[in-house]
Amino acid sequence: MRLVLLGPPGSGKGTQAKWLKARYGIAHLSTGEMLRASISEDGELAREIRLLMESGELVPDDLVVRMIEEKITRPECEKGFVLDGCPRTLVQAETLDQMLSDKNMGLNLVIEMTVDPDEVIRRISGRFSCMSCGASYHVTFNKPLSDDRCDYCGHTEFEKRSDDSEETVRRRLDSYWSKTATLVSYYRHKALLQSVDSMKPVNTVSLEIGRLISNYIG
Ligand code: AP5
Repeated sequence: MRLVLLGPPGSGKGTQAKWLKARYGIAHLSTGEMLRASISEDGELAREIRLLMESGELVPDDLVVRMIEEKITRPECEKGFVLDGCPRTLVQAETLDQMLSDKNMGLNLVIEMTVDPDEVIRRISGRFSCMSCGASYHVTFNKPLSDDRCDYCGHTEFEKRSDDSEETVRRRLDSYWSKTATLVSYYRHKALLQSVDSMKPVNTVSLEIGRLISNYIG
């Protein structure tokens, strides 16, 4: 099973990708998480990536595509993968298609997650994540089952992201609408696109994604 979750910041891509990984045993490939891990290292490239991310800009296409290429042939992707946050531009989508087709690993489904812009600000301002596995929570809408422990890995420390200020989120939203939203028609044209209403509660969205998977992938 090879999926893409496509949607603006705060639409719930990370939340649902974590659920997909737990439910179907597929790998969760988040370019945002990979990039956040890489900027904790020293060096000029890490510094450049940090500046771009903290200002809500996209990092260069070739870098993210190389990161994905390096992951998809690993054993954890044997049952498939869910791409969260990639592709984000037409160049990324086309390069990814070519790379997956060369490896005989074409995509099965692209799920567009729709959400209102005002809801995005509410969600991101209340977001916190597990410091160990990156699972994403919300102070009101999506708390861990036990107040002080991650549902997925049991870790007890949480953090907020440095690119989650309202100003940066608005820039990330602009970037989505100017560079990424065009991929909705790109994948619709390839008959790969389905949409879910991501304004619904987390569990309802998961059920809807599960239904799409059983209808379209089996
Ligand atoms: P990335 O980490 O991918 O961030 P994003 O796309 O902006 O998305 P978010 O992680 O903010 O939101 P999400 O949709 O995953 O929502 P979540 O599940 O957390 O990218 C960060 C940066 O890295 C980019 O700006 C760019 O600089 C760079 N980058 C990454 N990939 C790149 C690429 N391919 N090319 C170039 N640059 C790239 O949910 C949000 C909150 O809402 C949480 O609190 C959650 O608990 C809550 N929530 C989730 N679902 C619901 C629901 N249904 N109801 C109520 N609350 C909900």
